[in-house]
Amino acid sequence: MFRHQDATRAAPPLRTRITELLGIDHPILAGGLMWLSDARYVAALARAGAMAFITPRSFDGPDAYRAALRDCSRMAGGRPFGVNITQSRRAAENAMVPAWIDMALEHGVRCFETVGPSPGRLIERIHAGGAKAIHKSAFVEHALKAEHAGADAVALVGAEAGGHPGTNELSAFVCGALALQRLTVPLALGGGIGDGRQIAAALALGADAVVMGTRFLVSEEIWAHENYKRHLVRQPAEASTLAMRASGNPWRVLDNATVRDIERLEQQGARQYAEFGALATGRLGRDYCYRQGDWNTGLLSMGPAIGFADAIEPAASIVTRLMTQAMQAASRLASMSGPVPAHGAGAVFASRTRETTA
Ligand SMILES: Cc1cc2nc3c(=O)[nH]c(=O)nc-3n(C[C@H](O)[C@H](O)[C@H](O)COP(=O)(O)O)c2cc1C
Repeated sequence: MFRHQDATRAAPPLRTRITELLGIDHPILAGGLMWLSDARYVAALARAGAMAFITPRSFDGPDAYRAALRDCSRMAGGRPFGVNITQSRRAAENAMVPAWIDMALEHGVRCFETVGPSPGRLIERIHAGGAKAIHKSAFVEHALKAEHAGADAVALVGAEAGGHPGTNELSAFVCGALALQRLTVPLALGGGIGDGRQIAAALALGADAVVMGTRFLVSEEIWAHENYKRHLVRQPAEASTLAMRASGNPWRVLDNATVRDIERLEQQGARQYAEFGALATGRLGRDYCYRQGDWNTGLLSMGPAIGFADAIEPAASIVTRLMTQAMQAASRLASMSGPVPAHGAGAVFASRTRETTA
C-alpha cells in the first residue's frame, strides 16, 4: 500500500503508453506556455521526470530560439524535452514553422506538441526527423483527424483550460470519455488539472497522461515577475474567466482590468481580434505583467486550476506533490474492491449508497 511521501522526495515513476513513448517518469505533459516556456522552465520539468515544451514564438528571432534549445539541452541533464508548434490561423505567421522543427531536431528534440489545423505535413516532417508528434486540440473530431494523420498521441483540453480552449465548452472529462470511445492512439487529457487526484481520475478514465499549464505558472523557474506570481497564489479557481467569447476564438484568462476593457469594446460591437488593437495581443501581458508585475494589464492565459496553486515553489516540488496525490488516490480506488473501512470516505460513500437504494 502506498504511504504518504515527503514532498521533497521524487515520486516513483509510473508507466503508461505515453511515459514509454516519450521516455519520461511521470504522465505529465506541461503544455507550451507562450512567452514563459523558456529553457530554464522546460529543463526544470524535464529533470523532474515530466515533459515540457519550448515555445519558439516566444523568442526574438531564430538565434534566440536556437540559444534556448542549446541551453535547455545542457540544463535538462540528458532528460528529454519538447517543442510546441502552434500554427497560427494567419498563414503568414507560419512561415518559420518548418525551420523551427528542423532546428529542434538538430538539437536532439524528439517530441513535439503540435496545435492548429491540418497537422499532417508537420507530423510527416517530425517523423522524418525521427521524433514523435502529440497533437493538441479542444475537439474530439480534431483529435480523431490527427490520429488519422499519423499523430503518435493526442492531447485534448476541455473548456477549463488556460489559453485558448476552443468553442465547444465541454469539460475535460466529457471530452476525454467521448474521445476514449473512439481513439486508438494514447490520450493526454487536460483542462483544470491542478491536484494529483485529477491525474489518477484521468488515468482511471483511460488516459495515458495529463496536459497541464496553469498549475505550473507559480513555479520558481517561471521568469514572470514575482508580484504576478504572488498575486496568482492568492487567486481562487473563480479568478479565471473566458474573454473574447464573440470572436470565435475565446481566451481563458485571469479576470482583470483588461478583461473589463475588452467587454466594453464588445458591447460597442467589436468582434475580430484586430478590432481590439493592442488590448488583445499577448505582447501587452508580456510587457506589463510578466516583465513588470502589473497583473491588471493584458489578457493573461490562466484557468481555474490556479485554485490549487498555493505557493511559489520549484516545478519539481509541484510534480512530486501531484504524483504523490495521484498514487494515494489510485490506492484508495484499488482498496475499494476489499472490505469498506469503518471510517473515512469509503464508509461514507457506502452508507449513502445504502440510503439511496433502500
Ligand atoms: C500562460 C499560458 C500560455 C499558454 N500558451 C500556449 C501556447 O503558446 N501554445 C499552446 O499550445 N498552448 C498554450 N497554453 C495552453 C497550455 O499548453 C495547456 O494546454 C493548458 O494550460 C492546459 O490547461 P490548464 O491551464 O487548465 O492546465 C497556454 C496556457 C497558459 C496558462
